[in-house]
Amino acid sequence: MSRLIVVSNRIPGKTPAAGGLAVALKKTLSARDGFWFGWSGAFAETPSREAKFETIDGLQIGSIDLTKSDHQSYYAGFSNSILWPAFHLRLDLTDIHSHWYEGYRRVNVQFAEAIARHIKPDDIIWVHDYHLIPLATELRRRNIRNKIGFYLHIPFPTPDALNAIPHHEELLTDLLAYDLVGFQAQRDVAAFNEFIAHEEMYRQAGGTPFEIDLGNTVLEAFPIGSDPEAFSKLATSPNAQKMYKRVERSMNGRAMILGVDRLDYSKGLPQRVQAYEKLLENNANLRRAVHMIQIAPPSRDTIKEYQVISDELDTAVGRLTGRFAEPDWLPITYVKRAYSQASLAGLYRLARVGLVTPLRDGMNLVAHEYVGSQNPENPGVLVLSRFAGAAEIFHDALIINPFDTDETAEAMRQAIAMPLEERKQRWESLMTVAKTHNVDNWANSYLAALTGEEPPATDDDEP
Ligand code: F6P
Repeated sequence: MSRLIVVSNRIPGKTPAAGGLAVALKKTLSARDGFWFGWSGAFAETPSREAKFETIDGLQIGSIDLTKSDHQSYYAGFSNSILWPAFHLRLDLTDIHSHWYEGYRRVNVQFAEAIARHIKPDDIIWVHDYHLIPLATELRRRNIRNKIGFYLHIPFPTPDALNAIPHHEELLTDLLAYDLVGFQAQRDVAAFNEFIAHEEMYRQAGGTPFEIDLGNTVLEAFPIGSDPEAFSKLATSPNAQKMYKRVERSMNGRAMILGVDRLDYSKGLPQRVQAYEKLLENNANLRRAVHMIQIAPPSRDTIKEYQVISDELDTAVGRLTGRFAEPDWLPITYVKRAYSQASLAGLYRLARVGLVTPLRDGMNLVAHEYVGSQNPENPGVLVLSRFAGAAEIFHDALIINPFDTDETAEAMRQAIAMPLEERKQRWESLMTVAKTHNVDNWANSYLAALTGEEPPATDDDEP
């Protein structure tokens, strides 16, 4: 089997680590040998052009340092103040400074230079996410003819949002330097094709469109997943049970409604709190019978828009508390801190309602983890945004429009009132989907499409 080289901005074993992706690819990478490459997490005034290699948690990890100013342009600037908001259709939140693009490309060049000298002829290269769109172009410039695949973890934008991104034509050309461009959802493949159709319409109207020739590049959706069976085990592990019992005691028989999200404006957190406020407003009988827990660890907090959303959420939670709290009952617990996976699995299992209501999201793995952690004898209900990639596969969740807070409030009410039989039926169907779309199948089917090799047999295959 060919060696695999995984490239992403963050690498496993550093803080914050590449998270779920690291867990996902660890098995695949160990089976195929090879290494993972990314930013070291450190700054240097004159970074070495040579990658530094180390073994972390059994994986070969290569990394380079960056200058502070390049990192600012590449990560907080072009990637997270232009690409991230535009790809999530929040053009109002973009902050465009043209010199950031130069830093973004410079870092991609640095990555390519450091990786190129370690690539063997049969290696396959798998590049992850919007930070590294130009990497294949830069590797091809250095005579790398290997198979190179790209996977976009976030949604692909609509034509207008794409057109608002400076240098988007170059970025599209960069995507076509890959052999395979993988997306989270069919919606994203459709958005790419819509851009092509949009340019054709422009040509027919007498304009000068951007010509896209896909050439040999294949575009395909590969919905990512988690490891639901591992979450199922984790949720009954001693550490998860510790959290479960502690919180169960504090709930005192009340139904728990849970949200777990990075503190990001794409997650629809103020809208979610507003919907909960409506639930309490319209259903006086629920007021002392429910409790919401929102866990939202801060993220990218050097960027102004992230400070704004943090303040907005503080205000929304404060207003809700002031309006409905009583001396002996609080409607919500808002925790701005990260928890271990085991603690989260315990909380997921206890939650009668799992709220996954982003305004737009690539996939949303919390939805998968929530499903994996449920007790089959008494499962909770997933309330899921139609704008999460997960909505394309989890049809038995209660699907809502997160902008419509009445609808979200009504789905919460329905979830709390749902009879056990219906909860079981819905959960069984969701769990089957989560297992089918687990992370191993995701990595194997992506790599099979990239290499043309058969995916390895799974336990579900016929003998
Ligand atoms: O969802 C996209 C993504 O880049 C993930 O891959 C990552 O776990 C998450 O956002 C966190 O982002 P950051 O690396 O900027 O902290």
